[in-house]
Amino acid sequence: MSRGLILGIETSCDETAAAVVERGARTLSSVVASQIATHARYGGVVPELASREHLRAIVPVVGAALAEAGVTLADLDAIAVTSGPGLAGALLVGITYAKALAYARNLPLIAVNHLEGHIHAVLLNERESAAPRDADPSARPLGGLAQDDRHLEGGIRDAEPSLALVVSGGHTHLYLARPADGTWNYRLIGRTVDDAAGEAFDKVAKLLGLGYPGGPWIDALARFGNPSAVPFSFAQIKTKVHLGGKPARTKAAKTAPIARLDPHFMFSFSGIKTAVLRYVELHGLRAEARARVSRVLADFRPPQTREEALALYPQPTLDLIASFQHAVIGDLIKKTFAAAERLGAGRILVTGGVAANRELRERFSAEAARRSISIKFPTLALSTDNAAMIAAAAWPRLLARDFAPPELSADPSLALGAAR
Ligand code: KG4
Ligand code: ZN
Repeated sequence: MSRGLILGIETSCDETAAAVVERGARTLSSVVASQIATHARYGGVVPELASREHLRAIVPVVGAALAEAGVTLADLDAIAVTSGPGLAGALLVGITYAKALAYARNLPLIAVNHLEGHIHAVLLNERESAAPRDADPSARPLGGLAQDDRHLEGGIRDAEPSLALVVSGGHTHLYLARPADGTWNYRLIGRTVDDAAGEAFDKVAKLLGLGYPGGPWIDALARFGNPSAVPFSFAQIKTKVHLGGKPARTKAAKTAPIARLDPHFMFSFSGIKTAVLRYVELHGLRAEARARVSRVLADFRPPQTREEALALYPQPTLDLIASFQHAVIGDLIKKTFAAAERLGAGRILVTGGVAANRELRERFSAEAARRSISIKFPTLALSTDNAAMIAAAAWPRLLARDFAPPELSADPSLALGAAR
């Protein structure tokens, strides 16, 4: 009897990841090999190096995921792989390997959009806590939705549409997600017209001489600054500027069509980095950290006390960092809740690397409580890139027999959902 086991493979950016997930609801293993040490000295991801590192890591990472799950290829029901958006060369390593495995073992191959994966990271957590612990999933047949699987499809409140904010180093997208005919349906509501929010964190961290990725550093230092010290503001996006048939300027902007979106739900994070730089110059602030800061995340030792933070930067720089973070999160909150209200979404899902941010979680949760709307975040491990979310997103596809064609290729600017 089939166990509903899917091997997920994710190589869209700088993490080589593999995971085994049972019936989209139980993570048996999730292995992530980070390349941060390789890219850190360049202050960002170098595509050629990413492909090379994926090639090195893919076989041992998949092997480790199977071993940790206590399964072999013979136990699997399908292989799921990220087909886009992401770096072309990096995506191709995962796709080629997944195809070879699927062909060799005669298994169906399921292509998953990376952004859909991030949304399913939250749904996977929800299903894991909702699934009855003592149920024996191997007793249920595959093929068609069994009655007791239906609650797993949409989580606890499956009739209600959810507004999902995917906020990471490559994306800042708002989707209306709803279960439809056993799978999920996505409608693009808003997105960044230039940089992603995580990109702004990384760029500001870089200009302050901090390590890559910058988000965790800014998160840690912001606790010791005054968030109201510098009043950064975001101008209302004007439709005309961005709808003039101009090509999208950045990678993030290319991943989804821009037309017909409400400008109230559009983001722009390229200006705030320049505003931070200008503030540093204008006020003669010390931008470089006083002490040597390790650029390797494995050595990431964030300051725990005000004294430790002040050993790195003077108070006005800490105030600037806190104000920057406060402003970015304030903008994310304003537009996300406005969209949820406009669309009548019953709950909000916030996912992607930036969803790991402490202030973001606190303020989104407080705002949700104030408005009596439900809010969900993935666990910290599932917030950043991983393959469990890819295997989880593939489960409804396996039930619907929605398989990838043999000629599946990488689509670096693959869009999720149409804007309507
Ligand atoms: O989802 P992810 O691992 O990869 C992409 O798909 O981009 O997100 C990585 C991004 C980076 O920009 C990183 O700086 C940011 O997430 N990030 C954070 C935090 N942890 C990671 N940003 C703010 N606060 C954090 N705690
Ligand atoms: Zn991601």
